[in-house]
Amino acid sequence: MSNRQRVHDYWWNHKLRQNQKMLIDAVLSHRWVAVLGARQRGKTTSVGYAAGALAQGAEWTAQDGRRIHLPPDDVQLASQTLKHAKDFVSRSSRILSTFNVGLSANTADQNVFDVRLGSTERIMLSTGRKVQAHAGNPETIQGLSGHVFADEIASNKHDSEAIFQQGVSVASGAPHRRFVMVGNSSYKGDWWWNFWHGSGPIPGDERQTWEQRRSKFLMLKLDIWSEFPDRILPPDLREIREILGPKAWARWYECAFADSHGRAIPDELIIRTGMVGTVTPPNAPIVISIDPGLNRNPTGVVVARVGSWGLDVLRAEYWYGPTANDSPTAEGWVRAQMAQIDGYVNQYSPDHIVVDYSNLAARLGDALEEVYGDMMVAKTPTTRDRTQRRWGALLSMLTDGRLSIPEECQDLRDDLGRFEIDESGSASRKILEAGTLILPESPAPNGSHVLHCDIGAALLQCSDYVWSDVG
Ligand SMILES: Nc1ncnc2c1ncn2[C@@H]1O[C@H](COP(=O)(O)OP(=O)(O)O)[C@@H](O)[C@H]1O
Ligand SMILES: [Mg+2]
Repeated sequence: MSNRQRVHDYWWNHKLRQNQKMLIDAVLSHRWVAVLGARQRGKTTSVGYAAGALAQGAEWTAQDGRRIHLPPDDVQLASQTLKHAKDFVSRSSRILSTFNVGLSANTADQNVFDVRLGSTERIMLSTGRKVQAHAGNPETIQGLSGHVFADEIASNKHDSEAIFQQGVSVASGAPHRRFVMVGNSSYKGDWWWNFWHGSGPIPGDERQTWEQRRSKFLMLKLDIWSEFPDRILPPDLREIREILGPKAWARWYECAFADSHGRAIPDELIIRTGMVGTVTPPNAPIVISIDPGLNRNPTGVVVARVGSWGLDVLRAEYWYGPTANDSPTAEGWVRAQMAQIDGYVNQYSPDHIVVDYSNLAARLGDALEEVYGDMMVAKTPTTRDRTQRRWGALLSMLTDGRLSIPEECQDLRDDLGRFEIDESGSASRKILEAGTLILPESPAPNGSHVLHCDIGAALLQCSDYVWSDVG
């Protein structure tokens, strides 16, 4: 048995989960594949595995018994951002290195950055074949060739139809080349939803229907039950289900597309926050805003300069604390956060510290008040009315170009992209209006925490200070 076969057998029998093997088999045995999968259950990892197999070439026996010959070939991965591209390449090389395929180049020094194309991270195999991950714009893969994967297609900031068309064309050079789209459930009515459930003509080309397009694809739905067909969840997932609640659980783990709510903030407005420059005068007050988290809910922290209807974000971070299963106590976590905040107080000399205050999250607020005094610390419970008032202020700053967020605060941008509006009572979303804001829960990228748009919530708290005129 070859070394490669041995390594493959080990992965197949000991490391890969059932849902991951279904994904890999689908990719190796079908030309056009769409995968709808649960969060954090190993989609990107299996895409990395499949990418390695395609780059090395494969003789594959499909689940249905067909023998498939795949010559070694280049693989292009369309990723959301440079961060995602780097992450993909580092994971993919970790998998490939177990095959001992002589990675001759790696991401550290060979990283290509092209201002026109965006960025590329790549792995070279000794055979000369490459696995490349491209950040951002779908045009980055135009003109290249090879197999194409679009990871998290539903949450890429660019037009899904454009990614689809680029992917199909780039993979069109030879009949063995794959085009694979991978994503979570998104919103009823968006492109990805239409790809799965839409019917009738495709916008932009009335001569093709969604049904016709879909019929060419292997449509693979890998919800959480594909991994646990006996419907018995391990304890960590039972806990996630409990804190997410039925609706968010159905959305993220059972791949149910979300209904009724639409995106609250369009991407154009979020992108604009990176282009407006500084919007507040240097003497405007500095606010440290904290949405404390407990257990699996992280703390959201924003430092901002605020006033005269403008807001400059200086810093925005998620702080992941211990989960119920970890040893450090809640006391220890409060102390650790206090030390971190103390550092920021020294660095930024804030005029205000605003902190959400509720029965569940009173500990941190009380500790802050004890140290910095009630002149500086505002312990403000997050009521529905207050959230609406803050949301109205935030939306008007966004539409007026009076909110600036530095490039590196991507987590905050992501949170803003998750904000939802309850559309009941509003017939049209053509006009942006401050409808009822909803901060949906979603599983954190680390797989062990649940986000509640916590830095987005911390940003909303900063809106309390935009009214003050600072000349
Ligand atoms: N078979 C596996 N066994 C254990 N951990 C895994 C396995 N596959 C993936 N993981 C880990 O689970 C996490 C989520 O995997 P990822 O591939 O990013 O999931 P997804 O893309 O579906 O959100 C990562 O930390 C990854 O390393
Ligand atoms: Mg992923």
